[in-house]
Formats: sequence, C-alpha cells, structure tokens
Amino acid sequence: MPADIVIGAQWGDEGKAKVIDYLASKTDIVVRYSGGANAGHTVEVGNQKIVFHLVPSGMMYENTISVLGGGMVIDPDALFDEIKDLESKGIKVRDRLRIADNAHVLLPYHKEMDSIQEESLGDDKIGTTKRGIGFCYTDKVSRWGIRMRDLISEGFYTKRLPLVLEQKNKVLENIHKKNPISLQEMTDYLRKVAENVRPMLINAPYYLNMELDSGKNILLEGAQGTMLDVDFGTYPYVTSSNSTTGGAIAGTGISFQHLQEVVGLAKAYITRVGEGPFPTELEPEAAEILRKAGNEYGATTGRPRRTGWYDVEVIKHAARVNGLTSLAMTKLDVLDTFDTIKIGVGYELNGKRISYFPSGEVENIKVLYEEMPGWKEKTAHVRNRNDLPKNARKYVETVEKFTGLPVKWIGVGPKREDMILGK
Ligand code: IMP
Repeated sequence: MPADIVIGAQWGDEGKAKVIDYLASKTDIVVRYSGGANAGHTVEVGNQKIVFHLVPSGMMYENTISVLGGGMVIDPDALFDEIKDLESKGIKVRDRLRIADNAHVLLPYHKEMDSIQEESLGDDKIGTTKRGIGFCYTDKVSRWGIRMRDLISEGFYTKRLPLVLEQKNKVLENIHKKNPISLQEMTDYLRKVAENVRPMLINAPYYLNMELDSGKNILLEGAQGTMLDVDFGTYPYVTSSNSTTGGAIAGTGISFQHLQEVVGLAKAYITRVGEGPFPTELEPEAAEILRKAGNEYGATTGRPRRTGWYDVEVIKHAARVNGLTSLAMTKLDVLDTFDTIKIGVGYELNGKRISYFPSGEVENIKVLYEEMPGWKEKTAHVRNRNDLPKNARKYVETVEKFTGLPVKWIGVGPKREDMILGK
C-alpha cells in the first residue's frame, strides 16, 4: 500500500492541518517525521478549534493511529500537556499514539540554550520559536543526544546520562555562567518520562513497513515548510531539520518505494515568521492589510506573520526538491476583497534572469510580477471549482500554468468543510 506525504511548499503555516485532516479520514496511520513542538497545526471542527504541536493532526479520526517519527525531537512536557489537552476535548490519544524509539528527547536545557542564543544575537537572531529545536538536533548530530529508547535501558542512567550531563554542565557553567543540571533531578524526571512513554514506544521502521506490507495506508505529515528546510531553505534562517521528502524517509524509515502522492501545500499568498529573506514580501502597510485579512499570527508563538504575494519560483523549488505530484491552495477566500492581486512569476538576480531559487543572495532578488484583477466576491460557500468567480478560477489556473502542477484542493475557509476538492 502507498504512503502519501503532505509537505509545506512555502515558509510553514500553509494550513497543512486542514488538508491532513481531510486525507486522514481515509488513512490508517498518520506519521509526523520531523521537527517538534515548534509546529502549530490548527483544525477547526464545529465550534472546536484544536491546535496540534507534536501529535499529528490526523488524530481527529477515531480509527487512525498516529506516530511520532524517529526524525522528531520530542519535548516530554509539551507532549504530556498536549495529550492532556486533547483528551480533555474528547480526543482519545494514548491508545492510538505510538512513538518511534529512536526519536530524540528534547530537554529543558535545549530550550534554555535556544533562548540564550537568540537573546545574545540581538538583531542578528534567527527568530526561532525558542522551543529548543536547534539545540536538540545539535546534540543528536554531535552524538550527545538522548533517545526515547535510552530512557527504558537501565544502563543509561548509570553510564550515559552522567556523561551527557557532565558535558552539558561544562557549557552551562563555564560559558554561560548558569547553574549546573542536577544528575539526581534529571534521573528522576527521565524515569517518570520513561514510565509514561514506555507503552507507546515502537521500532518505527519495522512497524511502519510491516503495516504497509499488510495493506494499511500511511499519511506522512510534514511540519514547517520547504523554505525552512535546513538544506533547501533560506539558510541560516531555517529550522534544524529536513522538512522535505528526504526528511520523511529518514524520519520514519519507510522505504521510498512506498511513496505515492506528494502534496505541496501553499497559501494563495505567502507568509513567514521569524527573520530571513522573503522575495515577495509586501511593504508594511500592505502587509498589515493582508495580515489582518488572513488573521496571520503564529499558532505556536502568537507572533505576527510577515506577508507577501504568491511566489511561483518558491513553489517550483519545492516541486523540485520534494517531487511534488500536486498542489493544495489554502486560504483563497482571504483574497476575496482585493482589487488587484499579484503573482511573482520570475526572478532576476544581479540583473540576470534566473529560473531557480538561489542558495544565497536571496535578499538581492528582484521579483517579476503579473497583476490580475481580483474577484471581489465571497468564496467561502463554494464547493465546486467551476462555481468560483471567474477571476478566482483564473488565479488558480495561472498558478497551475506557471508551476506545471494541478491544484487538487482549494481551501476557502477555516472549517473542515470549507474546501473545494478535485481539479
Ligand atoms: P525553530 O524551528 O524554532 O528553531 O525556528 C527556526 C525558524 O523556523 C524560525 O524562523 C521559526 O519562526 C520558523 N519555524 C519553525 N517552526 C515553524 C512552523 O511550524 N511554522 C512556521 N515557521 C516555523
């Protein structure tokens, strides 16, 4: 059976949860494969608005199993708070949640280091979510990390943990003049975490491939977006993981041969939180109009999002590095009131036309735009693409023409049912 992926094609916050929620209704297992509690995936059903951070947003359907993949960095406090919150809203989580035992544990010192670094950088900061993401991945790669599986091994508490803390304390005490972490306190904390997660731990590559072989289908839930990918994004203003298709394979252990549909999610315009270059960004006054129309404030940090016009080169870059097979366009209704709408259709860098997203000097890009008349009609009620106002249909078709990809889902409002399906 196939595994499909939903990936952000812009700078995150593309409204992935809505499409994931729709696809999850027909899926046996939903898997998050990268990132951590830096994500905020919002699903609105009836009067309820539910924001997922670590737990896959596919969890809304009773028969779906959710998996936190091995490519994730999991903050146990954030996870237990989220489980409690979801269960208080009537969503049963514990029996249906599995955790890859090779996922890394994100600890309070990762969050502390993230805040220390951001504050020390002043105007040069990355604008992280301060959830400790970069520091947990740094430990993973430099081999000072702690994995979920370690927590249930007796030897870990007597050998590995003291060694890790000795290393951490050298940095905290000598470089940052902070208090050391107590071995006893950390041992007690991690033993409690171990008790809580033990029933949910799985060997993910075995479990997921076996379920696929036995006929189950899987949806891989991307977090952040292609332009925040540590390799393909606007480095260093990126997150610290691979949010792209490569990350989905490494972060789950699912064989690439199982992959089928790769859906690229993009808003009908574009937003970004945090620092970093953003070619189609609007001037402050116009940006504020779009921010207000789209209610563009971060689901995790509440920060106002920067806003701009749809950027075709960004989508083509996402299509290239992810192998996108289709697009979903979210929040089309946000453009309902605009007189004219622009689309970035090409780039010039240092006076020369380029047909790729450059890996440097992004701030020097000059964007070439096409301008289109708006439709000035409400679209929230529309459920069939042919019933969209003529100019809205034209807008979607223009995106298809420039990207070469079919737009198979169109979001026209925040609720689960506010969606146009099919091309
Ligand atoms: P970090 O992932 O917290 O280290 O933040 C690095 C960059 O990625 C910052 O610009 C964040 O604002 C951005 N970022 C991280 N997660 C998300 C997300 O889920 N949506 C949008 N931006 C994100």
